[in-house]
Amino acid sequence: MTMQQPVPVGIFDSGVGGLSVLRAVREFMPEQDILYLADQAHVPYGPRPLLQVREFAEGITRFLLDRGARLIVVACNAASAASLHYLRNTFPDVPFVGMEPAVKPAAEQTRSGVVGVLATPATFQGALYASVLERFARDVTVLQDTCPGLVAEVESGNLEGDAVREILTNALSPMLQAGIDTVVLGCTHYPFVIPLIQEIAGPGVRVIDPAPAIARQTRRLLSQNGWGLNGTGSIQCFTTGPVESMKLLVKQLLGDDLPVEHATWEGGVLSCNSRQSSH
Ligand code: DGL
Repeated sequence: MTMQQPVPVGIFDSGVGGLSVLRAVREFMPEQDILYLADQAHVPYGPRPLLQVREFAEGITRFLLDRGARLIVVACNAASAASLHYLRNTFPDVPFVGMEPAVKPAAEQTRSGVVGVLATPATFQGALYASVLERFARDVTVLQDTCPGLVAEVESGNLEGDAVREILTNALSPMLQAGIDTVVLGCTHYPFVIPLIQEIAGPGVRVIDPAPAIARQTRRLLSQNGWGLNGTGSIQCFTTGPVESMKLLVKQLLGDDLPVEHATWEGGVLSCNSRQSSH
């Protein structure tokens, strides 16, 4: 491939959460071509064993590379916790951008010295999170909550109903009582409920969505590899779940009609018949 040819970026998540990262990548690099995979057949990843999530991440990476992606954004904290090291070892020629809860900027910015992290169980269990706490949170108090059920609500397009409000109130109330002034979103589904988080937490609490930093890192890695920003801004989505509901969610969450194709798991391998394209 010459430097003149566009280099698609592959982005994946257990479901629609990674669209919060896709949105930031697109805002930052409008000409970037993107392949997006939502593994909705397996969502949520958060309660699953890390080894299983790692197998999904490997299968998805192979799928995206086969379809032309040259750089992979693991737009999922749970999948990053489960697989980032493994993916970098397994695909040494592929640059990966992974996610870890943004405890570092939170610890730097907090004035109260108390920070909240919202993420899924897989993320809290992974060695990556332990190392983030070890490196950056020595001098701050970190409170955690897994927001049970929140990923499923976002996957259903519920961004503000009573159920979502209850989950967030349960998570944030003890944190607010403990004096947090910063909330880290350690799951890519959660930025879609920032308005409600901000409403419950109040204007004095800063909410950190890591997506813009991930977009900047993606651009840095593209240019480090000599890959120019010369695509056409084309976006192709795939889901391992139902295509029609994914299309509606993409429209709801991003405001666009994007092409969505179905991809099928078979014996740990993902495949897609392009003629099934429904766009
Ligand atoms: N969006 C994913 C994350 O960032 C995981 C959600 C899930 O499937 O549990 O962790």
